[in-house]
Amino acid sequence: MSLLLLMVGLPGAGKSTRAEKLATAHRALRLTPDEWMLTLFGELEVDRKRDLLEGRLIALALRALRLGTPVVLDFGLWSRDERSALRWLAAAAGATCQVVYLPVDPGVQRARIAHRQATAPHTTVPMSEADLETWRRLFQAPDLAELGGADIPGPPPGWPGWREWAADRWGLRLE
Ligand SMILES: Nc1ncnc2c1ncn2[C@@H]1O[C@H](COP(=O)(O)OP(=O)(O)O)[C@@H](O)[C@H]1O
Ligand SMILES: [Mg+2]
Repeated sequence: MSLLLLMVGLPGAGKSTRAEKLATAHRALRLTPDEWMLTLFGELEVDRKRDLLEGRLIALALRALRLGTPVVLDFGLWSRDERSALRWLAAAAGATCQVVYLPVDPGVQRARIAHRQATAPHTTVPMSEADLETWRRLFQAPDLAELGGADIPGPPPGWPGWREWAADRWGLRLE
């Protein structure tokens, strides 16, 4: 069975740094949308482009998993629904899935973002204190059940399944 690793955490938590190490350790394909967005657009969000880019990377990840290649999705995945959908899609592709959560307290986060801005400005964009506060409010930390790989909850009311939810969220075509 192939392995899908989901990197979860706020900006500056250390996800991409850890994702590189995990990709080496597991000989996994690492998919980091920030690299693609900055290369293509010079920004991390443009209209709905990031959603659609992530959708393409998810489709690519599922193909790799079916071919037996482990994958590290370095997305951040702030919402529990996004993580549940990806866990479900991994299972449907015959893969195992592990959530890798990197908590970070505000002081350390600020220091790491400043360090990255100073040492590798081409890999990031400036982030304000107000951004960090807003993002922290939006972030849904995984609980122990989710980290332990507990049963995947059902999709939000009104959705027939996670496949349909994911298709809408990331502009995927149903396969
Ligand atoms: N465990 C760590 N200890 C100290 N610094 C770290 C650690 N992990 C990452 N960093 C540094 O913090 C900054 C942000 O890390 P990064 O992996 O880009 O975070 P993210 O991908 O979560 O936004 C980078 O400058 C990185 O070198
Ligand atoms: Mg990153």
